[in-house]
Amino acid sequence: MTDRARNRRRIETNRPTVRTWGYRGPPAPSTTPPILGTYLVNATAAIGVTGLGVMGRNLARNFARNGYTVAVHNRSAGRTRALVEEFGHEGAFVPAESAADFVAALERPRRLMIMVQAGAVTDAVIDEFAPLLEPGDMIIDGGNAHYADTRRREEALRERGLHFVGAGVSGGEEGALNGPAVMVGGSTESYDVLGPMFESISAKVGGEPCATHIGTDGAGHFVKMVHNGIEYADMQLIAEAYDLLRQVAGYTPSEIADIFRSWNEGRLGSYLIEITAEVLAHTDAATGLAFVDVVADAAGQKGTGRWTVQTALDLGSPVTAIAQATFSRAASGQSALRAAYAGLPGGTTPPLSRTEATRFTSQVEHALYASKVIAYDQGWKMIQDAAGEFGWKIDLGAVARIWRGGCIIRASFLDRIRAAYATDPDLVSLLGEMEFAMEITDAQVPWRETVASAARRGIPVPAFSAALAHYDTLRAERLPAALLQGQRDYFGAHTYERTDRPGAFHTHWAEADRPETAA
Ligand code: 6PG
Repeated sequence: MTDRARNRRRIETNRPTVRTWGYRGPPAPSTTPPILGTYLVNATAAIGVTGLGVMGRNLARNFARNGYTVAVHNRSAGRTRALVEEFGHEGAFVPAESAADFVAALERPRRLMIMVQAGAVTDAVIDEFAPLLEPGDMIIDGGNAHYADTRRREEALRERGLHFVGAGVSGGEEGALNGPAVMVGGSTESYDVLGPMFESISAKVGGEPCATHIGTDGAGHFVKMVHNGIEYADMQLIAEAYDLLRQVAGYTPSEIADIFRSWNEGRLGSYLIEITAEVLAHTDAATGLAFVDVVADAAGQKGTGRWTVQTALDLGSPVTAIAQATFSRAASGQSALRAAYAGLPGGTTPPLSRTEATRFTSQVEHALYASKVIAYDQGWKMIQDAAGEFGWKIDLGAVARIWRGGCIIRASFLDRIRAAYATDPDLVSLLGEMEFAMEITDAQVPWRETVASAARRGIPVPAFSAALAHYDTLRAERLPAALLQGQRDYFGAHTYERTDRPGAFHTHWAEADRPETAA
């Protein structure tokens, strides 16, 4: 008999006459609480999950598998029933059909996790449950919420004595079930209760949980957003490396899969490199062609990369590799514009000999690694900028620690980033760490040759180029921003500073001798 059938039979044969679903308070003195099917009628659940889509269902299962009694609720009760029927054997579930039943099933301080669509839907669910909660109770939002929404919600609910916790959960549906990375915001008091729970269900690396208290109010969702921004950059850089190996070196997708597999054994080792090899090795069953050749080349995006760039602009944080990755997705979908540009002249791509292709592959590896270091450095700088702006005390090394497993950007070199911040918690840039600086030095010629070769051949490498330009901008002794200041002063009298003395100045451009005065 399957687990599902066994669960269904247990529920049917044990179902009491007086109640169908959910917890209705303590049993009458004469009765002992029956074990209904595979769930406990009078259990007081350690956590409740409302919103049983793939992520919510898998998180509920993860909590149950780790020994917690989990109350489960969904707007449509069918999903609640289906969860218990199919997975009830995995642990202690308390299915609840109404909001009241769901809240009543939670032990105090109540912990209620919302796993619904970000935005208005989340607000609606908060409005439904908050009135049923008492001071000290906690509402956890595990969706991809915008950190500004989380800050607003946290402040509003704090005034009602409730803890609102924005928790960034990374790792997709597999991670939610078997071990995500969890970036928890909210109060330290709420983390004292929730922390052990999230740490128990999170991924583990070297025995360490991939969950931590990132900081107060929206810090958790902010860092999750930056995680997604780095994810965009990482994916774009990998895609550009693939395009170069395909168009310049002339390798087939299957050959490039083997190259990525070999890179995955070294300093580029990561989940994204690993799955890239799988995607490139895949053959489309319907056509027998390489899967990557039958996929439409217009990238989608749910919005977290866009949020990262918008926020970075407000913070003045130059996440140029993340921005280019996000704009590249938008450009790939501009079909009318691409049709207008189609056929316009570009570079020439003479084929490489096998020896030259091998050499070129090594150049691309250096360019990919160096660009990845810059992209991650930009992400960490953005987190530092936000911490200063919003008053968060964020352990940058802990961010690297919890991203080593469970999340989409999990990668071997996060150990190195963690170690760099452990050595110097106030590190301004990863390039301030000796080993990263040496690797960037080694990459100079191949990195530049890769970008130059792509330009000569008319192959777009916007993220490679942005990362290199960011590096050159920050290391430049003098930038052309001096000319910008002169232009701004000429047309807008916006004033400028001088290199030789303090203060702001303005040149009277309309006067004959163009005198300069202190502004
Ligand atoms: C994660 C992922 C996830 C992301 C989806 C869609 O950390 O598990 O980053 O949160 O939202 O993968 O991402 P895009 O549609 O924006 O590419």
